Amino acid sequence: MSAALTAETGLPDAGTCPYMVLRTPDTVREVLHRPDDFSPANALLAVTPLSGPALRVLQKARFALPPVLASNDTGTHAGIRKVVAGFFTPAKVSAMEPRIRGLARVSAARAAHLLATGGTVDVVQAVAADPPAIVMLEMLGLPVRDVPALKAWSLDSLELFWGWPDADRQLELAHSAADFYRWLRELVLESVASPSPNLFSALARHGLSIPEVCSLGYFLLIAGQETTTQLISTTLFRLAEGSRGISWCEAATASKARDLVRHILATESSVLTWRRVASRDTELDGRHIPAGEEILLELTGNHGFPWAEEPVRPGPTPYGLAFGSGIHRCLGAKLAELEAAVVVHETAAALKGVRLHDSNPEWLRLLSFQAPRTVTLEFLYT
Ligand code: HEM
Repeated sequence: MSAALTAETGLPDAGTCPYMVLRTPDTVREVLHRPDDFSPANALLAVTPLSGPALRVLQKARFALPPVLASNDTGTHAGIRKVVAGFFTPAKVSAMEPRIRGLARVSAARAAHLLATGGTVDVVQAVAADPPAIVMLEMLGLPVRDVPALKAWSLDSLELFWGWPDADRQLELAHSAADFYRWLRELVLESVASPSPNLFSALARHGLSIPEVCSLGYFLLIAGQETTTQLISTTLFRLAEGSRGISWCEAATASKARDLVRHILATESSVLTWRRVASRDTELDGRHIPAGEEILLELTGNHGFPWAEEPVRPGPTPYGLAFGSGIHRCLGAKLAELEAAVVVHETAAALKGVRLHDSNPEWLRLLSFQAPRTVTLEFLYT
């Protein structure tokens, strides 16, 4: 059985927090830079323990998440990371800029059309959703297909592993995760046999088993695009709200769009926390930390989580911390920042004279992920 299926981190009972919460940026960075003392083994564990029926649904799909990359605390991590990093080198990311801009322009034009014809447009669906998924699949050498399903599966799996679903909802989410995993396994088998270069065949050549490739694929196909969609969503929401000192017109320039994305990364990024566990008795800031202590690291300003002392932590943190630090630092940081800046720039340029239609949308609020679920715009003068 996979580690993810045996998580016992506890429910958010009033007043009881199963994690030691660390929020000072220097302390957070120190933990991330001491991988021998603070392991990422708990990074992908289910926050809410999976029920028997949910586990059975997953087991039927042969669902397993053996530690490969983000939760791998063994000596195999560096070699596997190198294989994945080869697909996202700075040169490859820069070379994708024209493609990203092209996709962003098509999406922004579609959003402008929807606005003109329907009176409102949800830019989460119209501009933030698809470009990151298409770019990620293309960079990994994988076929671009079933993007709407991938988006829906991603949100469901984030809720299953980082949320607090009740038993019925958990079962529903487990079915979705099982469907995703079956789809992924087919894709892995097809890609490993394919003569054209792709991530999955490269990992198989590196010596990973099919369940290990699937485990890495399950994490990466979600983390490599949904988090960027969420960053774009929050940036466009705050831009339309006019609350971050950059106007909609100003964001139609590359430099202001990038400044705004960096500001959101520091104050309200999509990945608000990340987890570590003490692998042995150790000390931190003069405090004794017993082996096994689960730690929640605050990476950016946030809306709080069930046990947060304050309901809202506005940040800012150094924006680079939004992508973690040390040997597990996000391999998609440059790509995510570029995609977000380009999509925000092109959206601001294509949609002129708009404001929020709904200034109080529902937010996705999980232990480690946050974003508005919709950002609906209308014309300023109707
Ligand atoms: C706004 C978007 C994103 C955010 C906020 C984000 C954030 C993070 C964070 C906090 C970590 C954990 C770092 C640590 O443990 O020190 C991580 C790991 C990772 N991210 Fe991202 N990420 C984003 C987008 C992406 C994209 C676009 C990709 C790839 C296409 C990606 C690939 C990865 C990988 C492979 C890891 C694991 C690295 C390892 O364990 O060695 N991420 N990310």
